[in-house]
Amino acid sequence: MSSSFTIRPSRRVTGTMRVPGDKSISHRALMLGAIASGKTRVSGFLPGEDCMATLSAVRAMGIDVEQHDATTITVNGKGLHGLRAASGALDMGNSGTAMRLFMGLLAAQGFDSELTGDESLSRRPMERVAVPLRLMGAEINTTDGKPPVYISGRRKLRGIRYDLPVASAQLKSALLLAGLYADGDTVLAEPAVTRDHTERMLVSLGQPVRRDGQVVSLSATGQLNGTDMSVPGDLSSAAFFVLAGCLATEGELVIDNVGLNPTRTGILRILELMGADLRVEPATDNCAEPVGRLIVRPSVLQGVAIPPELVPLAIDEFPMVFVAAALAHGETLVSGAAELRHKESDRISVMVAGLRSLGIEVDELPDGARIRGGRFSSGTIDSHGDHRVAMSFAVGAARAAGPVQILDTANVATSFPGFVSQASAVGLAIEANAGG
Ligand code: S3P
Repeated sequence: MSSSFTIRPSRRVTGTMRVPGDKSISHRALMLGAIASGKTRVSGFLPGEDCMATLSAVRAMGIDVEQHDATTITVNGKGLHGLRAASGALDMGNSGTAMRLFMGLLAAQGFDSELTGDESLSRRPMERVAVPLRLMGAEINTTDGKPPVYISGRRKLRGIRYDLPVASAQLKSALLLAGLYADGDTVLAEPAVTRDHTERMLVSLGQPVRRDGQVVSLSATGQLNGTDMSVPGDLSSAAFFVLAGCLATEGELVIDNVGLNPTRTGILRILELMGADLRVEPATDNCAEPVGRLIVRPSVLQGVAIPPELVPLAIDEFPMVFVAAALAHGETLVSGAAELRHKESDRISVMVAGLRSLGIEVDELPDGARIRGGRFSSGTIDSHGDHRVAMSFAVGAARAAGPVQILDTANVATSFPGFVSQASAVGLAIEANAGG
């Protein structure tokens, strides 16, 4: 797709906004709702392309999903054994979460499945999920380690104790989903705590999950009960506007109803370390996922060495951290972040190339980068079809010396439908150009 953004310099970011629903939680609401017994009513669902791929897949497997409006759905769950074989391959589009979580879920079904994806997803590693699923008794074939993925059903799974070799919530979640069907306990040791939305949602559906430090374990009860869920605004989407508010020189931005799950808030801690003027007001209501309000004012950011322990807690926000670092005073070191090379693009090399084309001095490292703060020149960025790269540069470009063009932006719709109009509404001078 050749759609692009043009951004012109601006100084003021102001207003009160909400961002679309959390992508990770929306995927899980569909998958777990589908295998729960009875209705799961979901408000705040994200109608982005990634979650719509998951929605199409559960429908293709015989689950009735009522869509009352763009963000309100009812999943009519058919219980743990209610899914039926789809008539063809299930297309996961751009979504690593959809593919990896479905690998765990479908390994345990009484039918075979094939999972495919777009060009970007077809380059991403899937053996990290297939290997432990095979230890549980699953039969799965990848294509040289990547999609398409072929799953043979009708296998009896057994629980395993497994040390995750990478900090990955997708891997952990895939194994927990398979564990719902396994004989014996599924016990997973994480090298670092990762987002725990699957665990929280399982508990809200009546399936206990234990956590002891970095070890998560599940003993299948054989039943999930449908429930009502409210999906908070996606902190990963709000983060672009938090950065926009920091980089502005005037105004105050309030972002309401944002998810504040502590396994996701690493970006707020990183920006605070860099000197952001940021207020976090947790709401007091008691739901499965913490939510609250963010209030951001302009600030002067300073370069820092990003503490590696914050990396898994901010894993999707690193394109933004690179931009923040490029516009901060002094040097920033990102390390311990080699996983960034396996996202929708190789986010280390794509961000380094983008920063250089706007005149920033940066050294690429195997697991991060050393970035010397400066000022963006006018220029053109290739986002390589990576939604978060495109949105991060869009926000940073407001502070450039002249117009910036960002290429290959169609995938912004995978996670943030309405990004351009919401960005314009709070003051960014951004224009979307349709591809020809
Ligand atoms: C996600 C986990 C993370 C994250 C992705 C969403 C999830 O991936 O980058 O955007 O919903 O579980 P990894 O598990 O590969 O780190």
